[in-house]
Amino acid sequence: MKFSALGQNLSGGSGIESLMDDLGKALSGVGPAPLMLGGGNPAHIPEMEAVWKSRMEQITADPAVLRRTLSIYDPPRGNAGVLKALADLLRKEFGWPVGPENIAVTPGGQTAFYFLFNLFGGRRADGTPGRILFPLMPEYIGYANQALEPGMFTGVQPGISHTGPHRFKYHVDFKNLSPGSDVAAMCVSRPTNPSGNLISDAELRHLADIAAQRDIPLIIDNAYGWPFPGIVFGEAKPLWTGQTVHVMSLSKFGLPGTRTAFVVAPPEVAAAVSSMMAVTGLANGNFGQAIAGPLIASGEIVRLSREIIRPFYLRKRDAALEAIAEFFPADAPYALHESEGALFLWLWLDGAKKTSRELYEILKKRGVLIVPGDYFFFGLPDEGWRHRRECLRISFAMSDADVRAGLKIIGEEVARAF
Ligand SMILES: Cc1ncc(COP(=O)(O)O)c(C=O)c1O
Repeated sequence: MKFSALGQNLSGGSGIESLMDDLGKALSGVGPAPLMLGGGNPAHIPEMEAVWKSRMEQITADPAVLRRTLSIYDPPRGNAGVLKALADLLRKEFGWPVGPENIAVTPGGQTAFYFLFNLFGGRRADGTPGRILFPLMPEYIGYANQALEPGMFTGVQPGISHTGPHRFKYHVDFKNLSPGSDVAAMCVSRPTNPSGNLISDAELRHLADIAAQRDIPLIIDNAYGWPFPGIVFGEAKPLWTGQTVHVMSLSKFGLPGTRTAFVVAPPEVAAAVSSMMAVTGLANGNFGQAIAGPLIASGEIVRLSREIIRPFYLRKRDAALEAIAEFFPADAPYALHESEGALFLWLWLDGAKKTSRELYEILKKRGVLIVPGDYFFFGLPDEGWRHRRECLRISFAMSDADVRAGLKIIGEEVARAF
């Protein structure tokens, strides 16, 4: 049997697939790596697990709700009550002028990006190519293989500033960001997976201005942002303009197993996403919406994000930073990206003798899973830029004991890497 070029592209393996594979094997006890500092699985927070249990009990206790959740197709756009509740929440929390016509549900953020990239990117009606521009690489590994046409992604190398001993931060390099007519959309994750960077309000406004001048969308991946799950440690105001397309997922709020996300966008974009959902999947799963719907309607989702989820990850972030200060050799030229949100520390080994892939293999043999950073620089033309092979992504979402044990081993390898 022969696969099509598109089939080969989608099935030929990817960074995200090997990452999920390593994760899955380790979690099922087959793999050799008990210290899971690689994946993006959110933590199991007891207070949140109590909320899920109580919501499940409420759903099963009411036969009408149970039937609606299990035995009825939702419209492709999503449950009307949940769409309205989310629009009300966004109006109240952020003052955004949105209604249900601005929202479409998708089976997780990952699928939302697949829809959006291929909705805007790719060959246009006049035959010219449309590209998706990532204004600040590194960006989320999960985007890398989603383009249905080769060459659709392009990215810009960031500016780097040293912000303190063993600390650095990326900035959008606006000098080198001048999207041509081939650019059909821009996309940023905020906070950014992998680096924990938070594109500043001024940077985001500047990007939105460029999007407005060019009349292209600015897609903002809110997987870790406000209003849920709110894993944001720096200051960041959400932005709505006629050009912004937000993707908000329930995954890092604690429900990755329900595969539920929301695209919040101009009505024609939300309608297009809902049509794509109908073609590819008929309808969304109901469970995530059934669990979260009442929490969105009451605003409880924002309170839980502010009072439980954010403090939980902030404490874990601080514990991880303390472990690094304790275990990493102070005289080695390692640097961490300023941790402004998300679940990861982004480690830069400037001038290391080993590449991030070599370090990944060494660490895997020692029972520690991290993600080699080069996967996150997809779409960046300059292969020769050595920084892209010098970074590792380390998750701090697992138990404190695992994170400390993993960081101790990573610290030993950092000492040997120079
Ligand atoms: C930045 C970012 N965007 C999107 C996703 C996709 O998440 P999901 O499909 O579970 O909503 C992830 C998952 O890790 C992510 O980190």
